[in-house]
Amino acid sequence: MKHIAFVVIGIVGIMSVAMVMIWAVVKPKRPIYAIEYGLISEATLPSNLESLVGNFRFVMRSYNPNTKATIYYGSMKILSRNSSNDKSVVWSGKNFSQPPFNVTRISFLLFAQVEKKPGYEDIIQHIQHGNVSSNISVRAEIRYGIANWKSSPLRVGIYCRPANVMLGHNFQPADCYVDL
Ligand SMILES: *[C@@H]1O[C@H](CO)[C@@H](O)[C@H](O)[C@H]1NC(C)=O
Ligand SMILES: *[C@@H]1O[C@H](CO)[C@@H](O)[C@H](O)[C@H]1NC(C)=O
Ligand SMILES: *[C@@H]1O[C@H](CO)[C@@H](O)[C@H](O)[C@H]1NC(C)=O
Ligand SMILES: *[C@@H]1O[C@H](CO)[C@@H](O)[C@H](O)[C@H]1NC(C)=O
Ligand SMILES: *[C@@H]1O[C@H](CO)[C@@H](O)[C@H](O)[C@H]1NC(C)=O
Repeated sequence: MKHIAFVVIGIVGIMSVAMVMIWAVVKPKRPIYAIEYGLISEATLPSNLESLVGNFRFVMRSYNPNTKATIYYGSMKILSRNSSNDKSVVWSGKNFSQPPFNVTRISFLLFAQVEKKPGYEDIIQHIQHGNVSSNISVRAEIRYGIANWKSSPLRVGIYCRPANVMLGHNFQPADCYVDL
């Protein structure tokens, strides 16, 4: 009995050391997220030119900075929270994977409003100079994979709020915080 116990403890110990070594050698880094830009998709401009309401197309960029590890995404959802704190799913797609250094862009539609801001004559000027802000978050399960080995699923939360995205072209992408 004693011997079996020692053998079991030994195997568990060796496996733990092996796992730690794989982890230490590979050192998987967390993915890097940013909102790149927003485009006006279908919007209405009221005659008083006070605001712009409609659908905006946002593009989210996901980057895998790892040199060896592939990142497998499961059950990914992009959520948007409006000013009254209600969450809605704006994107949910197929599971996907990102090999090392891969950049994947996800495009989704979001209903939003651009208010006229002080300092600009009208909403058109604001749109030309300004941005649309949104509270975007991502929920997903990720696994790191190296060769045939895959980590157990890890829950990841990505928060891009408030993401102030320049309309049309974003020279400075709005970075997101990745909580793993
Ligand atoms: C997507 O990933 C989730 C979580 O990892 C898993 O439960 C689900 O079965 C996967 N779906 C497909 C179609 O592979
Ligand atoms: C984002 O969330 C903050 C805090 O809850 C809220 O004040 C703001 O209005 C939200 N922005 C948008 C565009 O919904
Ligand atoms: C927030 O979203 C909910 C559900 O999508 C909607 O019913 C509500 O009217 C929205 N509130 C605002 C202020 O846009
Ligand atoms: C990233 O991976 C996706 C699928 O996993 C693929 O469609 C895309 O071409 C890849 N991009 C690059 C730059 O390798
Ligand atoms: C974008 O909006 C935020 C908050 O409304 C503001 O602080 C920022 O200065 C704006 N950026 C531009 C370029 O207008």
